[in-house]
Amino acid sequence: MSYLDLSSVSKTYGGKVQAVKDLNLSINTGEIVALLGSSGCGKTSTLRMIAGFEDVTAGEIRVNGTAIHQLPPARRGVAMAFEGYSLYPPLTIRENIAFAMKAERLDAAQVETRVKDIARLVELEDVLDRYPSSVSGGQQQRASLARALVRKADLHLLDEPMGQLEPQLRALLRGRVKHFIQERGLTAILVTHDQTEANALADKIAVMEDGELQQFDTPTALKDNPANLFTGTFIGEPPMNVFPAGMRRENRQVIFGLGDGVSLAYDEARFSPDLRDRLEKNRDQIAIGVRPHAVRLSEDGLPAEVLVNQWLGDQTHIAASFAGGSIVSVIHDRAKVQAGERVGVSVAPEDLHIFDGSTGTAISHGGQLA
Ligand SMILES: Nc1ncnc2c1ncn2[C@@H]1O[C@H](COP(=O)(O)OP(=O)(O)O)[C@@H](O)[C@H]1O
Ligand SMILES: [Mg+2]
Repeated sequence: MSYLDLSSVSKTYGGKVQAVKDLNLSINTGEIVALLGSSGCGKTSTLRMIAGFEDVTAGEIRVNGTAIHQLPPARRGVAMAFEGYSLYPPLTIRENIAFAMKAERLDAAQVETRVKDIARLVELEDVLDRYPSSVSGGQQQRASLARALVRKADLHLLDEPMGQLEPQLRALLRGRVKHFIQERGLTAILVTHDQTEANALADKIAVMEDGELQQFDTPTALKDNPANLFTGTFIGEPPMNVFPAGMRRENRQVIFGLGDGVSLAYDEARFSPDLRDRLEKNRDQIAIGVRPHAVRLSEDGLPAEVLVNQWLGDQTHIAASFAGGSIVSVIHDRAKVQAGERVGVSVAPEDLHIFDGSTGTAISHGGQLA
């Protein structure tokens, strides 16, 4: 049995704004789950319903099989780091963190040790005696994170806990926080709009869009087997290239006609028989997806013309006009090609993601049915 279950959970504000729609999610003890999606997609609403700060409009939230969505927050065994930090202004950072341990009735020395340890983890040792109003936004955010982590709870809920931090510190804390959570076997839900953060911290990621769950899977599965065009293009940087296409079979080949008379042709043996049948059914309604890392540029290949060559310090992004649209290729080195130059594009069949062009549902990844 899973530890936390959300069954058909919905949230509507003021009878109008549907923030969360029919959400189903199961989380196991010891798992770190990220809710990932753009601003306004319903992440915070979901977290607040789990914590008990918002009522569910419909559906059930269960812990170990018992419904908890009627219980007050204090009885849910949840520690939360809020998006807006909510530190107590009259307390110092040290007192704010210590306050989270009040219910445990520890002696002063134990509290001090734990405050120091967690302050070291989030790099706050120097400001423990300051008040929230006299530290930076990033320090307030780290205090809020420390307070949530240090608290003894069955479930830790972290709402954008590192959004205000500069990239280097964020990367450092990601590693430390993950280690802290795993070492103690804590169960945690992290809300973020940053896919790097979700990938780095979470065992599983729930991708949300417009109040709806798009896919709930491991980071690897989201990348390799996106359930639909939304997840396919949302996960991965730079985003997956997508081309509307038609499909036909000729001379033992499977041929995808893209725009401008450009076709990708493959030996049909590269596609499983059931996939070939499935593609036939969708022949006029196909979307072909190719990740920029899988776009190969060479002298031969399909005709493309370079639009931009951007060296980003550790990789090159090349945008080229291709098949009536444009395509982006990532190269792990400097590339000489200049804007205006002709290049050849090729894509290996194992790198193809194929979607239903009208519904966006995935049909296949790498030559196998999705
Ligand atoms: N208290 C509220 N009253 C009315 N609408 C709200 C309230 N809180 C959130 N919303 C709306 O619900 C939607 C989801 O918000 P939220 O859960 O905060 O998203 P996220 O955390 O993903 O940015 C948004 O359209 C937001 O404007
Ligand atoms: Mg939010």
